[in-house]
Amino acid sequence: MKVETITYKGGLVYILDQKKLPQKKVYIKCSRYQQVADAITRMNIRGAPAIGVAAAMGIALGMSELKTKNKVDFFNQLDKISRDFAKTRPTAVNLFWAIDKMVKCAHRCEEKSLSSIKKLLIKEAIDIYNKDIQTNKKIGKYGAQLIHKKAMILTHCNAGALATAGYGTALGVIRKAHEQKKNIKVFVDETRPYLQGARLTAWELKEEKIPFTLITDNMAGYFMYQGKINVVIVGADRIAANGDVVNKIGTYTVSVLARKHNIPFYVAAPVSTFDITKSSGKEIVIEERNFQEVTHIGKKRITPKGIEVANPAFDITPHDDITAIITEKGVIKPPFKKNIKRIIGNK
Ligand code: MRU
Repeated sequence: MKVETITYKGGLVYILDQKKLPQKKVYIKCSRYQQVADAITRMNIRGAPAIGVAAAMGIALGMSELKTKNKVDFFNQLDKISRDFAKTRPTAVNLFWAIDKMVKCAHRCEEKSLSSIKKLLIKEAIDIYNKDIQTNKKIGKYGAQLIHKKAMILTHCNAGALATAGYGTALGVIRKAHEQKKNIKVFVDETRPYLQGARLTAWELKEEKIPFTLITDNMAGYFMYQGKINVVIVGADRIAANGDVVNKIGTYTVSVLARKHNIPFYVAAPVSTFDITKSSGKEIVIEERNFQEVTHIGKKRITPKGIEVANPAFDITPHDDITAIITEKGVIKPPFKKNIKRIIGNK
């Protein structure tokens, strides 16, 4: 199955509306960059690599919309659009990585005509998209070597084709192991409150005909206790220099359970997800989202009115709980600080 999470076609950006999945497969047609930025903020598109690609395409779209013939105006506008994208979501570093790549691309060719710079920005965004798919396939290959035959794998949130340009990171590993006919079985955490597992991962695995069981987040411990889960694999939104991993809320809980049951805990993420300017996970900003994601399911309120609610979208899994981090450059094992530096370098 080829899921088109996002595409740049005919001067427009098309975003698969993940809020409508799995009930409806509809695309949001964006002719202005602000529509792309809003789609990121509202989580019509989500997942660290996917929002990086969306920002890149959004910047390319915003710049090609410009009518100015003046270079100073053009570059001022690039700053403004980049700042607007940087405000969309705070945690996944791939967003800032992609914005930086687009700004550098424009400055590299600032001597050229404005129409050439616009074309080069579109090319850069499409390159980021294509490279993300290639990267995920490499992650899948490295990761599948760690997955044994008949593995019973738990995954949290959605780190699949929908969270990337295609193929997925954690789900890319699962996809590859399935392609290799390893006879695997997957447990999918529903992932409260936004239900990325129940809505999106379940949809992708069903489409791919990969056997899985959907569970609520609080069931994972019970299945581990029963010996029904023997490997965990998740994605990441940002990885600090010491190997601490920021990922969807609930990932930390799963890592503690995995350690208690001696189950390997793998993180699959591209090099663009590392932020070596952060020495530990504690320095990473955790997004706090609207309380209604907790008090409501869909449009229906499930709680009393007027209560105090917290909704951090991510948590920090300490590097000590992680068995290995699977990247497109290979598998990084402890000691993480040393090995991240060796494999990632300065990105
Ligand atoms: O809030 P979301 O849905 O954007 O969070 C997504 C996750 O936490 C994913 O696990 C992570 O981005 C990795 S996606 C390959």
